[in-house]
Amino acid sequence: MLLTKENVIEVLKEVVYFPKGGNIIELGMIDNLNVEDGFVRFNIIVDDIEDDKNNFLVETATKYINDAFGNIKIDVSLMLSKTNTLAHIKHIIGVASGKGGVGKSTVAVNLAVGLATQGMRVGILDADIYGPSVPIMFGTEGSMPETCERDGKTFMIPVEKFGVKMLSIGHLVSGETPLIWRGPMASSALNQLMTETDWGELDFLVVDMPPGTGDIQLSLAQNYKLAGAIIVTTPQKVAFADVRRAANMFIHSGVNVPVLGLVENMAYFTPSDMPEKKYYIFGQGHGDAFAKELGVPFLGQIPIDENIAAAGDKGTPFSFSNFSPVTAAFEKLAKTIIDKF
Ligand SMILES: Nc1ncnc2c1ncn2[C@@H]1O[C@H](COP(=O)(O)OP(=O)(O)O)[C@@H](O)[C@H]1O
Ligand SMILES: [Mg+2]
Repeated sequence: MLLTKENVIEVLKEVVYFPKGGNIIELGMIDNLNVEDGFVRFNIIVDDIEDDKNNFLVETATKYINDAFGNIKIDVSLMLSKTNTLAHIKHIIGVASGKGGVGKSTVAVNLAVGLATQGMRVGILDADIYGPSVPIMFGTEGSMPETCERDGKTFMIPVEKFGVKMLSIGHLVSGETPLIWRGPMASSALNQLMTETDWGELDFLVVDMPPGTGDIQLSLAQNYKLAGAIIVTTPQKVAFADVRRAANMFIHSGVNVPVLGLVENMAYFTPSDMPEKKYYIFGQGHGDAFAKELGVPFLGQIPIDENIAAAGDKGTPFSFSNFSPVTAAFEKLAKTIIDKF
């Protein structure tokens, strides 16, 4: 049989999940199926990763694929379904970068606002435990999330502003406290923000990922069924090595998170009194070329605008308060993301 995505799906229809009396395709248990260069990768979504029955699913699926296509490379992972709060979120999107200061939070926040402006139900989770900036950028530093009880469990209710539901460690602790946390504490705080929050029905949850490519980033990508990742870079070549690592974490580490594309932030400068001019301070076309090299779509350029920093500091996301090439750029980015799903 020819190794195509369609044929793999046909084969996986033979794999029956007995507890639910159906095959794993019709039960919607397959996620992020990727067939490329003789390499098949996908996740099987289950309620319990430790359950032996579920390992049996992996073995059966692997065997059937090998029987049908010969001894090809297969990477199947079990993934925990988040039945409670995350089940009502259609798409979780990570905004990542190997480096801090490239504008990850700026892109995440303005993308969230851009999506909300276009009628989407949007949340943003500030996963940058060590350097939370979502509360500052939204002007919600002082807001403590309220809580509610459901089935004997306590859930946080996200803070809401500009049509976006948000939660950050910055809403829960003040000052510099998170900076001294050790890895496991940071991870468990992050899990709580994610799963012990009543996000309600969302079309998109944008996750402002912490910079870097360590355990926190990897487990975020692995545990939460990210529908895709947006990688942010600046045009300077020095940033590329870090950004490449971030992209490769999604592409090659077996987490099966598709990279939706690369955003080039601070791509050029347009003086507000000469809106038709574009000054490519760091050179032109770097972002596009870099996206090609990584083999991911190029999602576009965000210009440098001194008002972005001012708006971020004032607590009104730029794209909510202004109309300029920058707003247009974020609007286009939001549209592109909506079109991808
Ligand atoms: N396109 C831009 N034009 C002007 N300033 C920007 C732009 N993007 C980001 N900034 C500013 O650069 C700083 C770093 O951005 P931030 O989004 O916090 O980066 P990161 O989350 O990657 O650390 C912030 O002060 C922000 O306001
Ligand atoms: Mg940030």
